[in-house]
Amino acid sequence: MGISTVVTSGKGGVGKSVFSVGLGRALAARGRRVLLIDGDAGLRSLDKMTGIEENLVFDIADVMHGRCAPIDAVYPCAMAEGLFLLPAPASVELSVTANMMKQLVPLLKKYYDHVILDSPAGLGTGFRASSSEADRAVVVCNPDPICVRGTGAVRNALEKMSVDEKWLVINRFQREFFETAAVYEDLDAVIDSTGIRLLGVIPEDFGLAGAFQNGKPAKANSFGMMAISRIAARLEGDMVPVSL
Ligand SMILES: Nc1ncnc2c1ncn2[C@@H]1O[C@H](COP(=O)(O)OP(=O)(O)O)[C@@H](O)[C@H]1O
Ligand SMILES: [Mg+2]
Repeated sequence: MGISTVVTSGKGGVGKSVFSVGLGRALAARGRRVLLIDGDAGLRSLDKMTGIEENLVFDIADVMHGRCAPIDAVYPCAMAEGLFLLPAPASVELSVTANMMKQLVPLLKKYYDHVILDSPAGLGTGFRASSSEADRAVVVCNPDPICVRGTGAVRNALEKMSVDEKWLVINRFQREFFETAAVYEDLDAVIDSTGIRLLGVIPEDFGLAGAFQNGKPAKANSFGMMAISRIAARLEGDMVPVSL
């Protein structure tokens, strides 16, 4: 039986989708079978980021409305053996509900070691659907006060939904930000303000972001992908130090 992880945030555009694909790739590189579920109905990202956009026929809404079997809407991603995607529908009208996910995710966990649910931003239907069957949550946050405040709101919402295992990932870390912006004294001040245990820190890395924007695998030895690989190891219980 696999484990389900929702990747979420309060504020949008913090790097949830980049992180979800990177994490999926890193776990697949560790020999796991990984299913990414794009929870962002209407906006979608993961079909483009995993390079399967052209081959798409069915999506999660087709599964939920009985137009196809789950396996018909699961696509292998060429960027990593063992990595698969269940895409989101193009229309927000076709979004899936928490009740639907409660049926689907336990079924999928029988076939994959990891089910990674890439949530839309905010605390609406898409967030609730993506989090409803999550065994744990990774909350992605950028080191800015608006994002940190949103992270607190997500932490509370996850608590209400009984997602007890919560981890923090700080994305787009730049040392210069702390030196010049003088908003937070250091990274510890950001982590403390969120009230969530730190899982890892991903640096600003245009190579990582650019590769996934083009549906290509980011270089395994890029700073961003190395940080995500360490996070994958930590999520699987390895004792890997957090390094910046
Ligand atoms: N570590 C990073 N370094 C540089 N750019 C990043 C990083 N993470 C994300 N980005 C960029 O930030 C933007 C938002 O990322 P995305 O994953 O789509 O966010 P979200 O899913 O939270 O809305 C994208 O342009 C992406 O390429
Ligand atoms: Mg996204």
